[in-house]
Amino acid sequence: MNPDASVIARANELREQIEHHNRLYHILDRPEISDSEYDLLFRELQAIEEEFPELRTPDSPTLRIGGPPIDSLVSVRHSVPMLSLDNAFDDDELRAFDTRLKKYVGDEEIAYFVEYKFDGASISLRYENGVLVQAATRGDGTTGEDVLHNARTVRGVPLRLVPPFPDTLEVRGEVLMLRADFEKVNEERLARGEALFANPRNAASGGLRQLDSRLTAERRLSFFAYTLGEVSPSAAFPETQADLMEWLRERGFPVRVVGEVGVGIESVILVVEEIRKGRSSLPFDIDGAVIKVNSFAQRDEIGFTSRGPRWAIARKFPAEQAFTELIGVAWSVGRTGVVVPTAELKPVGVGGVTVSRATLHNPKEMARKDVRIGDIVIVQRAGDVIPEVVGPVLDKRPTNASPVPVPTTCPVCETPLEYDEGGILLRCLNRKSCPAQVETRLIHFVSRNAMDIDGLGEKQIQLFLSKGWLRELGDIYRLHLHREELLELEGFGEASVEKLLSAIEATRERTLDRFLFALGIRFVGERTAADLARHFGSISALRSATESELTQVQDIGPRTAEGIVTWFADEDHIRELDDLLSEVTPEEAETVRGDLFAGQTIVFTGKLEQFTREAAEALVLAEGGRAAGSVSKTTSFVVAGPGAGSKLVKAEQLGVRVLTETEFLELLPEGILAL
Ligand code: IVH
Repeated sequence: MNPDASVIARANELREQIEHHNRLYHILDRPEISDSEYDLLFRELQAIEEEFPELRTPDSPTLRIGGPPIDSLVSVRHSVPMLSLDNAFDDDELRAFDTRLKKYVGDEEIAYFVEYKFDGASISLRYENGVLVQAATRGDGTTGEDVLHNARTVRGVPLRLVPPFPDTLEVRGEVLMLRADFEKVNEERLARGEALFANPRNAASGGLRQLDSRLTAERRLSFFAYTLGEVSPSAAFPETQADLMEWLRERGFPVRVVGEVGVGIESVILVVEEIRKGRSSLPFDIDGAVIKVNSFAQRDEIGFTSRGPRWAIARKFPAEQAFTELIGVAWSVGRTGVVVPTAELKPVGVGGVTVSRATLHNPKEMARKDVRIGDIVIVQRAGDVIPEVVGPVLDKRPTNASPVPVPTTCPVCETPLEYDEGGILLRCLNRKSCPAQVETRLIHFVSRNAMDIDGLGEKQIQLFLSKGWLRELGDIYRLHLHREELLELEGFGEASVEKLLSAIEATRERTLDRFLFALGIRFVGERTAADLARHFGSISALRSATESELTQVQDIGPRTAEGIVTWFADEDHIRELDDLLSEVTPEEAETVRGDLFAGQTIVFTGKLEQFTREAAEALVLAEGGRAAGSVSKTTSFVVAGPGAGSKLVKAEQLGVRVLTETEFLELLPEGILAL
């Protein structure tokens, strides 16, 4: 039976609606319908296609969940070769690149466009009359493999273009696995007893080459576009990389843009450094930045070498992963009594530093990864984060690799260890006298971002502990009672003892936020401590707060609230705190006085002329907002003064509202500045 016209029309309508919602969800990040409404549309289309297979078009969104396996991958020749990029490994190599290019453009200035160097697998998507008809892997650059069946399952790959478009269009970009998906997919694989992926890149490139596209679909891969292959002549066509990105976005492609940097390699270098610093908080892995000449006319003047474009370069970042041998596991006791496993490794260079120890987080995580002594393991370091062991390379496991024994008693005080409620953290409950806990608590208390006691560091604390002068936090402020004994210690002259004691004295009235952070309450980092100080104003107000009062503070979730209430409910903590408070008087904080900016994040950039940046930021804080140092999607607005640079560019790229200083002042009710 042939479908009647109304069924055909309904199928068309469903396809359009589903792809529209796919775009809203995966590309624009603003869904308009719920998952279950989406599922209803999807199932309706599936049912129609099941009944009338001739209605299953090559751009049907039902293809996104994968179909029956194919027999083999077919080779395809790229109509325009997929070239590679030259690499720069340091800033001077970038400067040399810029100098090289200047020869080709005469007196003209060169504006550069900076992009992420996505760490995935490149792909070339071919559209004929707006429909995706071929998807090729890079292969050797000349010939790749057709992976259309898999590409259709990749989120963000349009199955049909948004018009107007050229008859033939090849769009190239990277297929990758978002870090969050990597975690999820590995969890699922673990639950099914399958081998875990070592990193998102392997998962993505392996995913693309599956014969069974349903397996690719399970990997939840994503796509970002960055360049073109073959294009049939078309009337309106972008003239710069910045315009191309916008043009691709309008055609329905996901793009992630860092921004047009403008003229001057030095500003490029600054932007690249920002990218490197922010690298670990991106939702995906990158292995560098790509710097491209923005103007296509200039690119024509500059041309290609045999390997790739002369007008672009990849600034590579040091690899953040390496392979090495796991020699042993050491267990140490932290401030809160948590006993953590640390991997002892054969030293290896990772991300520019030598790593010989890396965290294994906790016994559960260690068991999940199934690392064994003697294994070759993958070590990872991201930015300033402590290096961690990602997992073993199972193919290389020696036959005598031995499982890591988990201790049953505290490695320092020998108290029997207990697991917490979740069965994840192993803890020594001897809070009061486990020497390891007392020591780390003291060291944290005096550290730079906490009470910041000059001259009292790890070494001195260990020494004073061994003398029995320090047993709890308040003892720090009673060290002066040991003045005579201090003078007898080697290396402590009259002057240095005076200096140490007066440094301690100077901290008796530290600000409340520092004091709260110094206490080492679980989940209370510097930022949370500042939020708490601002909200409650005094330690006495905070200690009587309930969980529901705490969760009303911006950014404090139930987990932190519970951590705080539990901390103040503990008799030992209270006794130590009261003792400490008999010595010190934290300076009370000015609490929030209004809610003009409640829940908003504001960035100031450039020069402010009518008041200082500190005053502006203090005002935002006092009105319940947050002043941030960098622009992101969650920034509410940017206040830009003269001389604003990359932050302003970023705000414009992200579509974040930008105000002048005068416009900002107009937001404020009269008289507020005088408060
Ligand atoms: S442009 C003509 N842009 O890097 C060169 N490539 O070494 C076309 N890559 O095979 C590539 N992010 O897989 C370009 N923003 C980006 C990129 C990028 C990652 C990869 C791509 C390519 C390799 C070149």
